[in-house]
Amino acid sequence: MCGIVGYIGNKSVNSVLIVGLIRLEYRGYDSAGIAVIDNGELEVRKEKGKIKNLENLLKIQPVEGNIGIGHTRWATHGEPSKLNAHPHIDCNQKIAICHNGIIENHLHIRTELIKKGHLFRTETDTEAIVHLLEQEMKRKNTKLLKDVIPSVIEQIEGKYAIVILSEYEPDKIYFMKDGSPLLYGKNTEESYLASDIVAIVPQAKEYYVFKDKEWGWITKKEIYVFNRNNEPVTIELEKVKLQAIHLDKGNYEHYMLKEIYEQPDIFRKIIEARTGEKGKVRFDEMKLSNDILGRITRILITSAGTSWHAGLVGKLYLEQFARVATEVDLSSEFRYRNPIAEGDTLVIAISQSGETADTLAGIHEAKARFCKVLSFVNRTESTIARESDAYIDLMAGPEIGVASTKAYTSELIHLLYFALYLSGIKWLTPREEREEIFNEIRKLPAKMEYILNKADQIKEWAKRFKDSKDFIFLGRQYNHPTALEGALKLKEISYIHASGYAGGEFKHGPIALIDETVPVVCIAPKTSVYEKMVSNIQEVKARKGKILAIVTEGDDQIPEIADYVFEIPYVPDYLTPILTVIPLQLLAYYTALERNCEPDQPRNLAKSVTVE
Ligand code: G6P
Repeated sequence: MCGIVGYIGNKSVNSVLIVGLIRLEYRGYDSAGIAVIDNGELEVRKEKGKIKNLENLLKIQPVEGNIGIGHTRWATHGEPSKLNAHPHIDCNQKIAICHNGIIENHLHIRTELIKKGHLFRTETDTEAIVHLLEQEMKRKNTKLLKDVIPSVIEQIEGKYAIVILSEYEPDKIYFMKDGSPLLYGKNTEESYLASDIVAIVPQAKEYYVFKDKEWGWITKKEIYVFNRNNEPVTIELEKVKLQAIHLDKGNYEHYMLKEIYEQPDIFRKIIEARTGEKGKVRFDEMKLSNDILGRITRILITSAGTSWHAGLVGKLYLEQFARVATEVDLSSEFRYRNPIAEGDTLVIAISQSGETADTLAGIHEAKARFCKVLSFVNRTESTIARESDAYIDLMAGPEIGVASTKAYTSELIHLLYFALYLSGIKWLTPREEREEIFNEIRKLPAKMEYILNKADQIKEWAKRFKDSKDFIFLGRQYNHPTALEGALKLKEISYIHASGYAGGEFKHGPIALIDETVPVVCIAPKTSVYEKMVSNIQEVKARKGKILAIVTEGDDQIPEIADYVFEIPYVPDYLTPILTVIPLQLLAYYTALERNCEPDQPRNLAKSVTVE
């Protein structure tokens, strides 16, 4: 959370920083600011709210220059306000910094510096760092940041990616990084720093992802990097593959809608890449040997939010097809529960962003116990991908809408492919059976399109139920996670309270909530638990709940009972969660629109949660 960007080059820095910040807005959008060197002087502009507010401020109070830093904030310490927005400055207003992360010992630093006469203006943890830099410069009688950054790194505890601009050195931007993501981008005669590569395409042609405890500075043409022992580091640049076209909304009103509609084409690409010969799954990028995977006796999945729901489906796939006992943990719980995880346990981390702090901490926990870690990530340059023993690329392309959609279905299909891959290694599922499953998977893109073509039906549901206070989602087995995901989507972007339950659990409490005002979304495709779901639907009906059912085409029982029915094409049980979630994504989207909520940037949320 929080996005940072820095630029030195020949362009007008404002526009570069603003474009970068807009691309990083998914990381937080409660306030934003920039600092630039304008005619040799440090100038700061900041504003509460989204980047467009900052843009408006810059029209009234313009700044000019070719070097600057910027920040878009998701508040941790201190309320979202203009004052607490980054960049933060020292007492003499010569140094500005932007920070992503949390400084845990900031109160101690603040107290000591106040005693030494520093004037703090904000409630943020970040401000402690800029005053500490100033204090160290005074102590060492220097104006050069390179003389003081090592001792500041020694004194701060927590997580950070920091960029620093100083009036004393108007041709450099300094950086330091530990725990929060930061990368360098290079073009001829221009240099960038950013939290995420999306901020700097298409300009940056090559990039380098900083490692923890690295620090240094960039100039227009050069970069200087030092490691934790303050020794120079030679970096290897990689080519930027991401294209700006992948970051556009196209003809869609919102990223979320675009991303929902991208799913069929993403699946076509995934199917082509993953389908090998003779019923084999291809995972060319996955660097765990069959020997290691063949010895796995247990799997622990750790993930958060929507990726946790994917993990719940993944457990069913891994147990069904690969017959490996699998547990699924929320990352925020896994890291604190002293899990039983030893050598032959494979830890799977699932993360769209590859930057979720709790999931990353889970990986560290697993590695400390000598477990192999395989991550499923949508960003292969991410910290989680790099810190795992191996990764699988989810291939969904950049996901920008805060509510995850296409990454979720890509997680599901990759978990299924991985279960089949393992079952192949263990000689469990015969080749013919795997080929039959591949055939069913190949039909998915067309079936997804068929569902998307009926979006108008879901728009009607949204219109009818937009004022409901509560929504309930029910599903069983493969679609219990779908119920959880449908409820999460709805609450995160439309702010209607929603809960998902396993159909069988419903009688153990939640049924008490039902009356004629409560819409109950029943996910009941034709699967082995279909009849059980029909019973659940009858129970809701008997209590006058409004039934919105997702069923398989040709179902002749549920339409007799339900108030509204949405049909999906037939697929085998294990593929149903990939299709049933699509109408629920649409329901959340259209309900948010009906309620005048902004689906791409819901209140209080950030797409990438890089703090605990
Ligand atoms: C945030 C996002 C969710 C996402 C979760 C996990 O809460 O708002 O959409 O599912 O983080 O993110 P990850 O990138 O690890 O999948």
